[in-house]
Amino acid sequence: MEPRYVVILAAGMGTRMKSDVHKVLHKICGRTMVEHVLTQVSQVQPEKIITVVGHDAQDVKKTLGDRTEYADQPEQLGTGHAVLQTAPLLADKEGVTLVVSGDTPLLTAATLNKLLQYHTEKGAKATILTAEAPDPTGYGRIVRNDLGIVERIVEQKDASHEEAAIQEINTGVYCFDNQALFAALKQVTNDNAQGEYYLTDVIAIMRKAGGIIAAYRMKNFEESMGVNDRVALAAATKVMQQRINHDFMMNGVSMIGPATTYIDVGVQIGQDTIIEPGVQIQGQTTIGRHCVVGAHSLLVDATIEDNVHITSSTIEQATMHRGSDIGPNSHLRPKADIGEDVHIGNFCEVKNATLGARTKLGHLSYVGDATLGSDINVGCGVVFVNYDGVKKWHTTVGDKAFIGSNSNIVAPVEIADHSFIAAGSTITKDIAYHAMGIARARQVNKSDFWDKLPLSKSSEWK
Ligand code: UD1
Ligand code: CA
Repeated sequence: MEPRYVVILAAGMGTRMKSDVHKVLHKICGRTMVEHVLTQVSQVQPEKIITVVGHDAQDVKKTLGDRTEYADQPEQLGTGHAVLQTAPLLADKEGVTLVVSGDTPLLTAATLNKLLQYHTEKGAKATILTAEAPDPTGYGRIVRNDLGIVERIVEQKDASHEEAAIQEINTGVYCFDNQALFAALKQVTNDNAQGEYYLTDVIAIMRKAGGIIAAYRMKNFEESMGVNDRVALAAATKVMQQRINHDFMMNGVSMIGPATTYIDVGVQIGQDTIIEPGVQIQGQTTIGRHCVVGAHSLLVDATIEDNVHITSSTIEQATMHRGSDIGPNSHLRPKADIGEDVHIGNFCEVKNATLGARTKLGHLSYVGDATLGSDINVGCGVVFVNYDGVKKWHTTVGDKAFIGSNSNIVAPVEIADHSFIAAGSTITKDIAYHAMGIARARQVNKSDFWDKLPLSKSSEWK
């Protein structure tokens, strides 16, 4: 195989996005567009990947890190000019150079490999990836001669009436014989409607020099979609979402409403798990087998083991071990670690806390900065009072403890195994093994109550 090189164009301003964020840094299913492109091009075994950066170069470099080399294009004078900026890193190389845009996030490595293979088979100097567009507006058009041979590419703004009617478009993806590419780039001028140095002009230049120009027409236009504005961003997101959901379903995950199920790239879900409508699963989330993720749940960087049942809840940077359940309307915040077969019911919040196996937290409770053992019953409305206004404090509760409803556990305290807290207590001191803590005002029943009321009132109530 000839050595392969990749150039990603990502210097342009992206004016049509109307954004403070660089165009290629907008995200689709949890990943920036340019990262999608980089992931795919990395799979064609390139010797080198060079990303051309200009506008917001620092932001792009920060996102991609050392997964690519960079060429700077301080002034954006066109796509041809952009590729020319890679000359110091690339011009002396022999091999094939694949050029892609940072704003075509749906392209797949499978298509790129087919393009490269076609290029080699044809012995071409350049091969353009083309597609038949239902509406070609805005794209460069592929101009072929009577024999069907590609002559040149004409941009929308330079196209004649007849040329504008051509539906075969330039996807902005090409492979070139590297030496022929740099020879042709030197001859590109900016004599056109936009006053730019077009990469597309190298096609006519190479053709005139007698080189073979090939076009690989892909069947799926969608895949070549260039994202220039927010409407296209939403359209591309929908396609990516369908791909992701399709793959999960083919691998044994049930989706009741895939059209409203939003899952990021990189999420993992096990077989026989059911995902209900309106669910969002983001970041580095992994979900085991035989789980149910109920409608309108949000999972961010969550770790969910097998047989977990989630009902309309939010889980972020937290772990639920096998057989546990939560919801509806509960919230696991960072570093919540929910043990096997734990039950968390309605309107509970857990943060930076560990709950041991089979512990129950049925209703309306807050557990923050605590370590709870196993088989504990936490009554309704229990609050772990972890913050004194300055510092967060930690509480420990031992196995098989019983915490009565509406108790406040004021940290730091240690509640030993098998201890019991009477309902309504405000606990500020440690409780020993098997002891009961009760901390509430004693009830007083006053029988002379009525006699002390003003006459009028007392007769009314009696
Ligand atoms: C380009 C093609 C067009 C093709 C379309 C496919 C040219 C002249 N036109 O048009 O034929 O149908 O892509 O999507 O190439 N960029 C730079 N430096 C520059 C200018 C652009 O790095 O000076 C980058 C942009 O960031 C972008 C890519 O090149 O990632 C393409 O530029 P864009 O302005 O989006 O070109 P299109 O008008 O879409
Ligand atoms: Ca574009």
